[in-house]
Amino acid sequence: MPKLYEPINVLKPVADRIWIVDGPIIRMALAWLKIPFPTRMVIIQLQSGGLFIWSPVALDENLKTAIDMLGPVEHLVSPNKIHYASIPAWKKAYPQATAWASPGVRERAATQHISISFDRDLADGPDPAWATEIDQLILRGNRFMQEVIFFHRPSQTLIVADMIENFEPAKTPKTLHWLLRFGRVCDPDGQTPLDLRLLFFGNHSQVRACLTRILSWKPERLILAHGRWYDKDGTAELRRAMRWALP
Ligand SMILES: [Fe+2]
Repeated sequence: MPKLYEPINVLKPVADRIWIVDGPIIRMALAWLKIPFPTRMVIIQLQSGGLFIWSPVALDENLKTAIDMLGPVEHLVSPNKIHYASIPAWKKAYPQATAWASPGVRERAATQHISISFDRDLADGPDPAWATEIDQLILRGNRFMQEVIFFHRPSQTLIVADMIENFEPAKTPKTLHWLLRFGRVCDPDGQTPLDLRLLFFGNHSQVRACLTRILSWKPERLILAHGRWYDKDGTAELRRAMRWALP
């Protein structure tokens, strides 16, 4: 059985005004296999006091109580077109919040028959609502999806959903260890999953240009949605994980 990052569904402080919440396991289909993915969300409290919620996991009552004590939920963010499933439940709980769409997420949800409405679209640069604190860009070049990568400047934290994954063998069923290694997503050397990496073919100059911008942010921490995240040496870990795209 896969092991969780317990305790789940509770706020865990990362630095001033930024928290993670480790969520439940979801099962992602890969060929004939159903792969268990641990999930993780990020919460940033903006200077205004409002909350920026990145890739929300399932909302339960205890988590909602903890969130409500932090401040008003202002932004619900889908970082890429396969990270959005819990946004409708959050939007129902926080109807005043703005739901932000990633490139292609509306079309993706429609093909999955998931009813979801977004209020705004994420751009290749931060919205004025958070531009003084959070930077962002659209990582381009992938033929399946474009992920919006975020950087929380005060804590020097880079936030990545699927472009880097880092599953821990000790938390993953033994029968899947070969797949973690084959897919290049095995801790401590988690990288871009092989299937996504192959879908950058012919477009390495685009991803390299995006990485140059991200590296200029000089991240200290690197938070991932799946697997162990890196609480230090973020820039070095980013270079390691994305070395396939760097000169
Ligand atoms: Fe994911």
